[in-house]
Amino acid sequence: MNEETFKKCVYVVLFLLIAIFFTKDINFFGPKFYRDVTEIEDSKELTVLVNKNYKLKEDYIPPDLEQISLDYATDEKYMRREAKEAFEHLSEDARQMGYQIIATSTYRSYDYQEKLYDYYVQMKGQDYADSCSARPGHSEHQTGLAVDVMGSNQDYDLFEQSIEFNWMKENSHKYGFILRYPSRKEKITGFKYEPWHYRYVGREVATIIYKNNWTLEEYKEQ
Ligand code: DAL
Ligand code: ZN
Repeated sequence: MNEETFKKCVYVVLFLLIAIFFTKDINFFGPKFYRDVTEIEDSKELTVLVNKNYKLKEDYIPPDLEQISLDYATDEKYMRREAKEAFEHLSEDARQMGYQIIATSTYRSYDYQEKLYDYYVQMKGQDYADSCSARPGHSEHQTGLAVDVMGSNQDYDLFEQSIEFNWMKENSHKYGFILRYPSRKEKITGFKYEPWHYRYVGREVATIIYKNNWTLEEYKEQ
């Protein structure tokens, strides 16, 4: 190879590396988020899929919200009855083993989610907001089946570094919960990795999802 050809090869490789760097987060072939949005009919189904393409009605309020025991929540927090009972059971068993799993955010109304999303847009812009906060109607917190947790390091944002994280990752399915936004699945879920966010789907489905290393989207596609 002469010097001229070698230089050309170096330029091509450099160009490709730069192109890969700037396009790595673009989802060319996956779902087009927030386009072709479908309004959900059966919002009460325990495995209901709520994401950037499936939206809950603005007036949907889960029918059987119950307050979580203050032993396992930072303050007054509500989940649907079955999810609440499963969460209390999980937190109680964790406590017996010396862990502390506390709910920091559970049911959120459409209006509350709207304020939260708008706050992120104001603070950090729309791209950032869309990476970590659902637009109103698109948050599964509105289902009353989702819970953000913190461990004994007292900060949900640092949950991955808590001693509780591994226990939760390996055991939450036994109580019907899945880690809803895993790392390296952002192109499927549409959200950045959230080690603190768990979703109740029931034990049977949670176990299938856990064993197959799926997201709820992948389970629903089967
Ligand atoms: N942080 C999750 C994606 C939500 O806003 O529902
Ligand atoms: Zn959450």
